[in-house]
Amino acid sequence: MAKNANLRAADKAQNDEFYTQYADIQKEVNAYIEYNPDVFRGKTILLPCDDPEWSNFTKFFAQNFEFFGLKKLISTSYAIESKKYKTDWQPTLFETENPMYNVEKSRIKGKIFTLTHDTNNSGRIDIDDLQWSYLEGDGDFRSAEVTALRDEADIIITNPPFSLFREFMAWVMEGKKQFAVIGNKNSITYKEIFPLIKENKLWIGYTSTSLDILFTVPKEMEKDLITQNQGSAYKIIDGHIFARSASIWFTNIEHGRRHQPLQLMTMAENLKFNKKLKDLTEYQHYDNYNAIEVPFTDAIPSDYDGIMGVPISFLDKYCPEQFEIIDGIGRYSILDNVRTKKEGKYLSMINGQPKFFRIIIRKKQ
Ligand SMILES: C[S@@+](CC[C@H](N)C(=O)[O-])C[C@H]1O[C@@H](n2cnc3c(N)ncnc32)[C@H](O)[C@@H]1O
Repeated sequence: MAKNANLRAADKAQNDEFYTQYADIQKEVNAYIEYNPDVFRGKTILLPCDDPEWSNFTKFFAQNFEFFGLKKLISTSYAIESKKYKTDWQPTLFETENPMYNVEKSRIKGKIFTLTHDTNNSGRIDIDDLQWSYLEGDGDFRSAEVTALRDEADIIITNPPFSLFREFMAWVMEGKKQFAVIGNKNSITYKEIFPLIKENKLWIGYTSTSLDILFTVPKEMEKDLITQNQGSAYKIIDGHIFARSASIWFTNIEHGRRHQPLQLMTMAENLKFNKKLKDLTEYQHYDNYNAIEVPFTDAIPSDYDGIMGVPISFLDKYCPEQFEIIDGIGRYSILDNVRTKKEGKYLSMINGQPKFFRIIIRKKQ
């Protein structure tokens, strides 16, 4: 592998060990519950690429098992030997004090944790009722055993390995399940993802795309984040290092923000009152694409019924009853990339100046 490719691979593998904070899971999932209190009732949730000893997804859903009315919670973890960062790893007491503990398996096998009923007669079902065993393999989501769990589940929820995001989403979509998955904001523009957004088979979660989601990382990786800062920013809060990676939620679970139509001004009102509009390319036609440029979501004109290009952040406000998504353009059209790539045209460009990626929309009549 060339040096750059090596670095890129390391960079991606590094992002694979970002752990989601409890409050970020809570904020997103609570929006689903708020929209439909029965959204999880009687359902089986699978949390793949997780590990309750290290991460918060299992904790959150185990603690809310009864409140959500879950039928079954399954989470699977990935074997430590298969991970990039492993030197500061130690089996937890939870594992070593269990009669099932096996030194060899502990490093090379994934684990499965299930929660269905009150196992310790405490009168409630919670995290202490989790039962676990080693998996046959290392817990790779692509394995037959984890795929069988996907097929058993109604809903898949996780923050999957960043380096395998495309593959992970293809795996989720193949299972035809409900899902809520954290991924990088850039994934919106992937040709595997954007068509799903257009077809309303996948949308952005409740958490705003402009919010900086911060992740905890293994101790060993904290040093790497600071010394190499391999393309991933970090933030130090109260002496703790958090990784940052422009992440957002992708889901097909309904939430209320998705059905609130945007209040719009006319084009003339925008030009007069919208202080953000000042570079004079607003509302002009793209050089190589038949749509007008709308550089800010709040500048979408109420009196224009044609085709418009808007920034990615539009998806935060996207109400499918109000707008139709037609295309995604940057260097080429996402939905028609073969033709336009060949022609070598830059599509989101005005007067020869390229714009960022644009989502092409039209108001619904
Ligand atoms: C981004 S981390 C998130 C962990 C946890 N879901 C969370 O949000 O805190 C992704 C996890 O997937 C694991 N992983 C990497 N490759 C995997 C694979 N092929 N199958 C399953 N898990 C994998 C990583 O080791 C890491 O623990």
